[in-house]
Amino acid sequence: MAARAVISIFMLCLFASSVIAEDPYVYYTWNASYGTISPLGAPKQAILINNQFPGPEINCTSNNNIVVNVFNNLDEPLLFTWHGIQLRKNSWQDGTPGTMCPIQPGTNFTYKFQVKDQIGSYFYYPSLGLQRTAGGVGGLRVFSRLLIPVPYPDPEAEHWFLIGDFYRKSHKALRETLDNGGSLGMPDGVLINGQTSKLFFNDNKPQFTMKPGKTYKLRICNIGSKDSLNLRIQGHPMTLVETEGSHTVQNIYESLDVHVGQCFTVLITADQDPRDYLVIASTRFAPYYVEGKAIINYEGSKKGASLFLPFAPITWFWSRNQFRSFRWNLTASAARPNPQGSYHYGQINITRTIKLANSYSMDGGKLRYTINGVSHVDAETPLKLAEYYGVGDKVFKYNIISDNPDDGLMSKVNVAPNVLTATYRDFIEIIFQNPTMSVQSYNLDGYSFFLVGMETGKWSPEKRESYNLLDAVSRHTVQVFPNSWSAVLLTFDNAGMWNLRSENAENRYLGQQMYISVLSPEKSLRDEYNLPLTQQVCGILKDMPVPEPVYH
Ligand SMILES: *[C@@H]1O[C@H](CO)[C@@H](O)[C@H](O)[C@H]1NC(C)=O
Ligand SMILES: *[C@@H]1O[C@H](CO)[C@@H](O)[C@H](O)[C@H]1NC(C)=O
Ligand SMILES: *[C@@H]1O[C@H](CO)[C@@H](O)[C@H](O)[C@H]1NC(C)=O
Ligand SMILES: *[C@@H]1O[C@H](CO)[C@@H](O)[C@H](O)[C@H]1NC(C)=O
Ligand SMILES: *[C@@H]1O[C@H](CO)[C@@H](O)[C@H](O)[C@H]1NC(C)=O
Repeated sequence: MAARAVISIFMLCLFASSVIAEDPYVYYTWNASYGTISPLGAPKQAILINNQFPGPEINCTSNNNIVVNVFNNLDEPLLFTWHGIQLRKNSWQDGTPGTMCPIQPGTNFTYKFQVKDQIGSYFYYPSLGLQRTAGGVGGLRVFSRLLIPVPYPDPEAEHWFLIGDFYRKSHKALRETLDNGGSLGMPDGVLINGQTSKLFFNDNKPQFTMKPGKTYKLRICNIGSKDSLNLRIQGHPMTLVETEGSHTVQNIYESLDVHVGQCFTVLITADQDPRDYLVIASTRFAPYYVEGKAIINYEGSKKGASLFLPFAPITWFWSRNQFRSFRWNLTASAARPNPQGSYHYGQINITRTIKLANSYSMDGGKLRYTINGVSHVDAETPLKLAEYYGVGDKVFKYNIISDNPDDGLMSKVNVAPNVLTATYRDFIEIIFQNPTMSVQSYNLDGYSFFLVGMETGKWSPEKRESYNLLDAVSRHTVQVFPNSWSAVLLTFDNAGMWNLRSENAENRYLGQQMYISVLSPEKSLRDEYNLPLTQQVCGILKDMPVPEPVYH
């Protein structure tokens, strides 16, 4: 027994040194506090990080260990989540209320996680109670290690375009509206990197200045609350090079539809007359039109932008066709789950099909959004921690939804924590069925999935014949058009408790989210880390002894 313990401690050290010690650390200290911003004229209470809105970026290289010490100087609990970062074996740091106890006001907590081979553009945001509508959002860039080439030449420089719809009301006021049965309604504006130009001419500082002839890389993410946005730049078509960690076939686009939570990396070349050019982000598929503008200019030129503005596309068919043109570059060597094109997801047998149908209903005077009839509510004790402590049954029930629900609009609402189990390493098909008339956007933590199909009407097994089983893009956020379905395929090979949620803030806040629990069958440290010693506990766990490490 003793000898075995010594050996396993030895193995643990080996493991720790091979995974952690060799890889460089990147440290950040963040002070989250309230501040006043007025991008549309009127002041609004915003959440700043180190006095910045948007927040400071995280800049790292694949395999880096990221350490972020967060000081919560708000008057309410806070958690940050790392949108799109897979956190292998480590849902402990995922920053959702189902995995972590919130950082209480006046205290600090240090996140530690590693980014793996997910070269691309991501963002982080505060996951609790509509705080994302107030700020606390910033970009997260993962560069390639120099050994792994990316399939395009180094740009002259690179810039973020964090775009999103924006409400003048504070997140607390918006919360009150939703708590009282209301809806977010129409946004007051669209912001690009926290601001918007009010007039056509140089009233705002340019986002950046281009040197004639040079190529620039733009990292575009829709960090908003509700609206799909179309992004376009006067005179400068965009070459798509990466989407959420996948290098794509390098098609050229006049404009891009970016659904909430999605990110694209594009290149533009400064090959036009030297003058100012407008960048426009405008709402799509909404009964209103709201736009935000920004300026980029050319070095040495003082000429204002042209008054001819590129128009947004109109139908969502256009958008679906654009989605179909996004293809994985099968010969690029970087940013793929398994290099050299050996990952043939189209040839793996599907072991389970989970259909998730969204709906909404009134329940006791309150609007509720549901997945398969369940409107998720967070428990005071994070689900992952309750599961680890062996008291999950005191906090939630597994599998209260079925894999094959009615897929029409549902009036019945069950309000409870919604946790589905998946078998470790199963290759699963998830069908998102949207019977409503609004566009949905879903994000799954812990994974990337192959987005293989998207069509109008109801999904049925024959629809698999239309799947792209060759070069679909692997990504973390999927849109579902009105009265349509979207299908994704993935292997559940990352043990943990992972949040699957609507990226629409109102839907998410009012229950359109759930968790998927994937456990290591052998309780092996190869599959999942033990509870970190620094993890905070709360709820019913407060007075319980910390369990012996579960994984060996
Ligand atoms: C954080 O910001 C708050 C409000 O601006 C300030 O009072 C506090 O001193 C700052 N704390 C740190 C650690 O910088
Ligand atoms: C971000 O990281 C890259 C690659 O490590 C480096 O070249 C660049 O200078 C960094 N940028 C900033 C702003 O720190
Ligand atoms: C809080 O910050 C202090 C000072 O940087 C640090 O030493 C401590 O480890 C942090 N506490 C937590 C729980 O992260
Ligand atoms: C895919 O990547 C390869 C390797 O970097 C590159 O040479 C090729 O042009 C890319 N193909 C397309 C269609 O974008
Ligand atoms: C997949 O299923 C088919 C038909 O059931 C079977 O013939 C094949 O061997 C399976 N492939 C794998 C890799 O398990």
